[in-house]
Amino acid sequence: MSDFSEKQIHPNSRDCLRIIQLTDTHIFAENAGKLLGLNTRESFEAVLARLMKEEIAPDLILATGDLSQDASEESYQYLLEKLQPLNIPCFWIPGNHDKPEVMQKILNHGNMMFEPHIVAGNWQIVMLDSSVPGKVYGNISEPQLDFLQQRISNNQQRHSLVVMHHQPVAVGSQWLDGLGIKNAPELFNAVASNDKETCFLWGHVHQDFVGEQAGVQLISTPSTCVQFKPGSTEFSAGDEAPGYRYLTLYPDGRVDSVLHRIHDIAFTVDYSIKGY
Ligand SMILES: [Fe+2]
Repeated sequence: MSDFSEKQIHPNSRDCLRIIQLTDTHIFAENAGKLLGLNTRESFEAVLARLMKEEIAPDLILATGDLSQDASEESYQYLLEKLQPLNIPCFWIPGNHDKPEVMQKILNHGNMMFEPHIVAGNWQIVMLDSSVPGKVYGNISEPQLDFLQQRISNNQQRHSLVVMHHQPVAVGSQWLDGLGIKNAPELFNAVASNDKETCFLWGHVHQDFVGEQAGVQLISTPSTCVQFKPGSTEFSAGDEAPGYRYLTLYPDGRVDSVLHRIHDIAFTVDYSIKGY
């Protein structure tokens, strides 16, 4: 992921930038693929149906990793076929279940792309690949940390949304907290010189988390499929509904976000499974 070009987005509204975050879709090659008892294609399609019905003119979609469960070409092809017709630019990053080289091959078509730097009005978005081949935990490479720091110092008039798959802070679940970004202090250091607002946004933890650390706003978003139980010591599935997040970024640096859950789809989570 060494392509350090820049993508310009012209927001639909002059007053704000509207973003949809979809994360941890965990799509399988097969239609019938289930994660912890939940059919991930069905819940993803229910999420898509809801957001197409309710959301007004989003400027872009951020797909923040674990897009596939099995890293198959079929799973990414399915995502391309579902997201392409929305006609909204969709920027993706890999998660621990993904294979970046397969994503590059399938998901760089039309409105779907990997793009490390996006500029939109008073905001810049930096997309980081926190995945580590063969590992569940995350790490931000030195070149990406340098890139982030450079984008901060070269865009001092802009606020920064920094997007990654893994969590940069503990979220209060012991088993998950060991599977976040190992070099998180370096990530916070990379944005420490920012005089404007900074917000970190991620997936991976399959639960809602909102916080603040060292002046950085922190947001995680539930999966479009099965959730993890907040506050758990060991791996546990949760019974919260599938969801997505709608973020509104204002020129003054304010970030409003609304978490939407799809309560009206019937699903059964298999709580007896002790891993994913
Ligand atoms: Fe995940």
